[in-house]
Amino acid sequence: MTASQATDRAIDLEHGTISREIFVSPDYYRAELEKLFTRAWLFVGHESQIPNPNDFFVSRMGEESVILCRDPQGKVHVFLNSCRHRGMKVCRYEQGNTPLFVCPYHSWSYTTDGKLQGVPLYRSLYEGTLNRDQWPLIEVPRLALYRGSIWASWDPQAPSFESYLGSALEHLDQVLDCRDGRPGGAEVIGIHKWVFPSNWKFAAENFLGDSYHNPSHRSVDMVGIGPSGQRGQSSRRDNEYTGGQRFWVGHPAGHGMTGALMPESTEYVATYLQHPAVDEYFRHCFYERKRRLGEQARLLPLVGTIFPNAAYHGRQPRSICVWHPHSPTETEGWRFFLVDADAPAEVKDVLRRYYMRYSGPAGMTEQDDMENWLYATAASKGTIARRYPLNYQMSMGAYRTDDPIPGDVSLQITEQMARNFYRVYAGYLDGGDWDALIGPDRAPLRAAAE
Ligand code: FES
Ligand SMILES: [Fe+2]
Repeated sequence: MTASQATDRAIDLEHGTISREIFVSPDYYRAELEKLFTRAWLFVGHESQIPNPNDFFVSRMGEESVILCRDPQGKVHVFLNSCRHRGMKVCRYEQGNTPLFVCPYHSWSYTTDGKLQGVPLYRSLYEGTLNRDQWPLIEVPRLALYRGSIWASWDPQAPSFESYLGSALEHLDQVLDCRDGRPGGAEVIGIHKWVFPSNWKFAAENFLGDSYHNPSHRSVDMVGIGPSGQRGQSSRRDNEYTGGQRFWVGHPAGHGMTGALMPESTEYVATYLQHPAVDEYFRHCFYERKRRLGEQARLLPLVGTIFPNAAYHGRQPRSICVWHPHSPTETEGWRFFLVDADAPAEVKDVLRRYYMRYSGPAGMTEQDDMENWLYATAASKGTIARRYPLNYQMSMGAYRTDDPIPGDVSLQITEQMARNFYRVYAGYLDGGDWDALIGPDRAPLRAAAE
């Protein structure tokens, strides 16, 4: 079965149906690893994780382990975590600092700029045969450092990260930037890593803006786990969206998100009622952001997915999550929690506790979501189940393009972002060229405002 035949049959956007095969079949999974994860820009980490020379963080791209590190000159690299001799993982730690990655197997060693430096018994066993310059760690050819975040692509022909994101950049900025509107300035205060029995796309799709699944979180809303301590729908996050116009937006390159456009006259709505110092911090940030960004400050993000597998919570609980594929029916989630690096310690501490209540394997809201993804995977594996496609018909044709929000915008809940995601997904599996994959995009709001 070629990918082209497969996607022709499986993804029917005209009728809004998608075969369950793409969530369970080893053939699709193999095609994803070979044709999608080798080309798309993937999130690999954040600069705050490797601030000093020789700092490293072991990340992943698709199924493969990669080392994100900073060399002695301060340059950032991403290397395949596999020795050139017999393929052993050269780094088996999660993060740290080292001038040399010494392979545990036969002790070949590599510097943090990737060069093969040490080969035991070189003179007697390899002299005249092995040219060390030709056997460095395999380096990812495309790297983008964007407002602290680090992205990589294995495709030398990939468009720039900024072109790949298009108008979705403006939404991503709101995750990466300080709460008072300064660009960048975040730090990762912790990462949750956990494996769960679901296809990775169920998770990626959820964060495209599936607001239809709110009933899944009813118990969380009743308990009131949010930073305000209040109960009721949306109390699980914060109160700053009060009075905003919700929107759902898709981008030609497959990204999708939901957020709110606030009225021009919005004032701060207190959230951190039990922590006056924290509330004061966010009150200050709210007005400072408004002063800095002007019209742009009206845009508040909720959640989004940067194609294919990086998802974010834009305001609270502020984080970037990567859904690493393990197999058709197994995924490893990594959620990176972000705070303003220069926020007071009390702010960071309150946020850290809230992040853990909400997200990750023990987080109450993420547990609700995971339960859906893993049962959807399990219940789609059967022979009979696989004969019946899934329904993606919600709000077909509801997009509008005359809004001040960048991208293609819907003002009602829609599965258009998912349809768009799978259109682009099919494009990768069919080996589409980059022009077709990233499509035309409209200028970001910031350009329009200038
Ligand atoms: S596998 Fe790394 S030194 Fe042999
Ligand atoms: Fe959810």
